[in-house]
Amino acid sequence: MKSSIMVIFGGSGDLTKRKLMPSLFNLFKKGRLTDDFKILAAGRTENNNETFRASINESLKLFLPNEEQNETQIERFLSIIFYHSMDPSNMNDYDSLKDKLWDIAGKKGDYLYYLATPPSLYEIIPLCLKSVGINTKNSRVIVEKPFGYDLESAKRVNSILKESFEENQIYRIDHFLGKETVQNILAFRFANGIFEPLWNRNYIERVEITAVENLGIGDRGRFYDSTGALRDMVQNHLIQLLALVAMEPPVAFNESEFRNEVVKVYKSLAPIKPEDIPSRVVRGQYIASERDGGRKIKGYREEKNVHPDSHTETFLALKLFVSNWRWDGVPFYIRTGKQMPTKVSEIVVYFRPTPHKLFSSRQECPEQNQLIIRIQPNEGAVLKFDIKVPGSGFDVKQVPMEFTYDKLGGLPSEDAYSKLIEDCMNGESVLFTRSDAVEASWAFFDPIIEMWKNSKNIPLYGYPAGTWGPLESNAIIEGGKNWTNPCKNLIDTDLYCEL
Ligand code: BG6
Repeated sequence: MKSSIMVIFGGSGDLTKRKLMPSLFNLFKKGRLTDDFKILAAGRTENNNETFRASINESLKLFLPNEEQNETQIERFLSIIFYHSMDPSNMNDYDSLKDKLWDIAGKKGDYLYYLATPPSLYEIIPLCLKSVGINTKNSRVIVEKPFGYDLESAKRVNSILKESFEENQIYRIDHFLGKETVQNILAFRFANGIFEPLWNRNYIERVEITAVENLGIGDRGRFYDSTGALRDMVQNHLIQLLALVAMEPPVAFNESEFRNEVVKVYKSLAPIKPEDIPSRVVRGQYIASERDGGRKIKGYREEKNVHPDSHTETFLALKLFVSNWRWDGVPFYIRTGKQMPTKVSEIVVYFRPTPHKLFSSRQECPEQNQLIIRIQPNEGAVLKFDIKVPGSGFDVKQVPMEFTYDKLGGLPSEDAYSKLIEDCMNGESVLFTRSDAVEASWAFFDPIIEMWKNSKNIPLYGYPAGTWGPLESNAIIEGGKNWTNPCKNLIDTDLYCEL
């Protein structure tokens, strides 16, 4: 049964304005919601329907691309939005929520709840919904990341959710999985016969996964300072990318087979021994600097709602191993950071060098083949290989063979959230994270968090905003090599690199 109302907890929050409303508008405009679809935003901020609609009108202007702004459609969309002021942590406030819900959507029970609140409320909201009987069997619940703060809290949230909903009603969202280019990793690997035979420890030397941004934390200081890069990006988005690169081919692309393979990867992550954490995990925090010709950028500790002595990491680089037959000994390097030179997410697969060097090569020519899967921007893929430089002698040079989505007319304009919200409304859960996956991922990261908490000697390196993070992060790469620092463009980056 397709959901006919979405109740958003955290309705006046940043995620609702930046992502959820634009995505719902997208679905609305394309006629992909039910005819009677409604949105009920619930939150602590005092609002009524009119003031809330006006604020969403403003934020749609900010967050929708110009070509998608259409006054008439926006007017119609705003009319399906309602607001309910309440304290989601207070069980007594749920009777009035139920009345409002029944009033707007009736008692069919096809409700979709979206938990876009701080994770501490995930332990309360499901029980409150149950207490007033609106956890109906046709309802669904989407839970935002980070799913808990650590393994223990994730287990607690899982068991609390399961007191109110069945596992097939629970949708743990990781919006990276809604991106076309992330889903394409599966097509790239499993729809082509030529890569998979090379996709293992015999032919791959290392894998780098980078997802960095050129902005700071904006207005999210309160959330970010208690979260940090590990919980915000690594434990979910980046480890999910690693899973797609490292997983075995699923028997079928369905919710159980695909998600079983993801869990297997998480369970194969070799635990990092406490004594290895300092040399394999590098954390950093941006400090004030000037960029783009003199523009002053605040340091993290000067951001709004951030503690002036905060030790929260805004950059994290790690070296991981997947202990199984396919990957034993192959390092996977993962890196994320705020206030870096550009916004880019990509995966670089380095193949092993040829065993014997027959030809001379120009100095700048790396001797390894590389496959770059670009998640964003300039979405596409590049395979780098060597050719003979025309002319006398036998110099070889590395050249790119590339595909970018422009060649297919660009990517569809739906964003990742629209895709996943629609999947959830249709009851399709394959692209959502299962409870055992969340727990297996936390089980891997818990010792790192523990060590940071308990040991005062683990350094937090400052890096000037607008740089590629602490230089110490290069030291985790084996063989004296460095990270591949991507340009905004995927190709034609040799002459100049646009950031
Ligand atoms: C979110 C994080 O999950 O992902 C943000 O909370 C981050 O801190 C964002 O900026 C990045 O997503 P995208 O799709 O813009 O790369």
